[in-house]
Amino acid sequence: MIAGWRNMATRLMSLLAAMGLLTACDGGEHIQSVLHPGGGDAAVIAEIAWILFIGGTLIFVGMMVLLVMSLRDNRRKVRPAVWLIGAGIVFPFTILSALLFYSVSRSQQLLEPVSHDALVVSVTAKMWWWEVRYRDEETGRDITLANEIRVPAGKPVYLALSSDDVIHSFWVPALAGKVDMLPGRLTRLRINTDKPGVYRGQCAEFCGEQHAKMAFHVVVQEQADYDAWMANQRKPAVTPTDVISERGRAVFLEQRCSACHTVRGVAEENLIGGVNLGPDLTHVGSRLFLGAGVLRNEGESMREWISQTQRFKHGARMPEFGHLDDDSLHALSTYMEQLK
Ligand code: CUA
Repeated sequence: MIAGWRNMATRLMSLLAAMGLLTACDGGEHIQSVLHPGGGDAAVIAEIAWILFIGGTLIFVGMMVLLVMSLRDNRRKVRPAVWLIGAGIVFPFTILSALLFYSVSRSQQLLEPVSHDALVVSVTAKMWWWEVRYRDEETGRDITLANEIRVPAGKPVYLALSSDDVIHSFWVPALAGKVDMLPGRLTRLRINTDKPGVYRGQCAEFCGEQHAKMAFHVVVQEQADYDAWMANQRKPAVTPTDVISERGRAVFLEQRCSACHTVRGVAEENLIGGVNLGPDLTHVGSRLFLGAGVLRNEGESMREWISQTQRFKHGARMPEFGHLDDDSLHALSTYMEQLK
């Protein structure tokens, strides 16, 4: 019975989702959906939502049945007082109290304190991308990346969230609840999942022209894969080994890309007014997407992004470099691609 309801409800939700009302799905590969929780807190949230949705549906159907019965057969009179007290006071009081008690007690789990061995990642929202920082325990320095958060499966992760400009909101529907990111304030969110995979997230507070193109990805990996990834992120940028990439590095410096972008070992962190204007590109070649979820990082994407930034993301602070000659553009994008 419950399974049947769930099935029907899933279909209805999918229909709403298809209409763009509830979720967004990126080709099905990187699911961004509260209905497909990746475990942990998201599973608790999904369960509460299902119970409330099914409860609400049952009450609605019950009311409709009563309505039809009253229209079809009004000979079997029930005294008005019974309806008023029974259906008007006792029934809603009991049901609403039960649902309130259930949802409050179940969501207590979401408030459990973060354990001391949690991995801490700080995320700063900017118009319209995400700066992600890990503290390197060996050197005490920050490892900075953008628009991608990698975490080991099975380990609690504590996200320290803030904003450098306006109010944004951090939401990975399949992993946790939604939390606002406010300038000058630190908010927090916990992620705890043991299901490896790529989970899409999205800014959930309107923050300007390109709010819709402010996405990110959380990559949950097995501990060994995560450790290998982190060991690579610790390293400074690779030195170009071919002539084209070497030329690309020269173009990067000539064009003053380093005024906004750090490439560790080539152009060091360069804070303007205490903030990074552009993403750290030390390992940009290893990221899944470019431009905060705008382009999959493959094929000609790097070149397209550099030369037509404003076409893909109008209003972004990054000026486009379509005026560069073909060779320079090719060299620059080749250099960026090999920054793995
Ligand atoms: Cu950032 Cu919407």
